[in-house]
Amino acid sequence: MEIGGKNFDFPLLLAPMAGVTDVGFRALASFFGADCTVTEMLSARAMQHNPKKTEYMTLTTEQEKTKLAQIFGHEPDFLAKAVQNPLLQKFDGFDINMGCPAPKIIKNGEGAALMDNLSLASKIISTCKNSTPKPVSVKFRKGNKTENFLDFARMCEDSGADFVTFHARSVAQGYSGFADYDAIASVKAKLKIPVVGNGDVLDENSLHKMQQTGVDGVMIGRGTLGKPWLFAELKGKANIDKMAAIKKHISILRENFNENWLKLYIRKHLLWYSVGLPMAANLRQRLATCDDVDKCIEILCDAMQK
Ligand SMILES: Cc1cc2nc3c(=O)[nH]c(=O)nc-3n(C[C@H](O)[C@H](O)[C@H](O)COP(=O)(O)O)c2cc1C
Repeated sequence: MEIGGKNFDFPLLLAPMAGVTDVGFRALASFFGADCTVTEMLSARAMQHNPKKTEYMTLTTEQEKTKLAQIFGHEPDFLAKAVQNPLLQKFDGFDINMGCPAPKIIKNGEGAALMDNLSLASKIISTCKNSTPKPVSVKFRKGNKTENFLDFARMCEDSGADFVTFHARSVAQGYSGFADYDAIASVKAKLKIPVVGNGDVLDENSLHKMQQTGVDGVMIGRGTLGKPWLFAELKGKANIDKMAAIKKHISILRENFNENWLKLYIRKHLLWYSVGLPMAANLRQRLATCDDVDKCIEILCDAMQK
């Protein structure tokens, strides 16, 4: 399938994850073999009214190869302006979020709420397509009020989407249960445009199961938490220097943010990085109470060498 003008046999994409897929994390995922990365969701309205607030989420590095900006909103005009926003012109394409289940997003008629309003969703997609020469994809779920993913997927295709990404859970499910791979196979069978499957890919086994749905590519989210090198593992690459990767993550963030922000922000990533290391409970407690990022790196280094 093609993404941003490049052809891929079977691309692995890093999922957009709000508060997680920062500029450093995306760079690492790309370095370790993610064929495409996606920013966390960016509000089309906020980008217009308060671009400074959005800017830090749009930072990129040269390590990041094919990259998409994910936008959300319910007003076609704002979304059209978003795809033309100067901040986003370094991206290879745009993904429209029509799958976010967060109550405050649904309440605004955005994210997965658009699955209940096919005519508005269609208008948003076609308006975005008419406003940029770059590819536009749509990410959605099984449904909000009803599980109308097949009709919704067809609407995306008819409205001009270049590809779709399908996270096969309903809004009511949140992140519980399992992604419905039969539903993914049925969407793939129905569409002519490429379909990217998403949900519960954590390792080679689950990747294989997802591939059996016939999808054209796979997007991975939670499986990469504390493990941006998952892409390298899935591509059969050994000899991963995990500590160097963690240091790189932090150094990219340091280039872009101040130490006070970093101290608070990096903690969750450090805790994810510590999963599976010896004495995990003790290690997590030390990391959670350590206020100095360099000291945290030392603690992690020690644990990794044990
Ligand atoms: C912390 C977190 C933040 C997320 N933020 C976004 C987002 O900004 N946009 C989006 O489309 N999906 C978002 N998602 C959903 C993921 O992109 C993905 O669809 C979901 O986690 C299922 O894939 P997985 O099983 O590989 O994690 C988020 C998920 C998590 C766990």
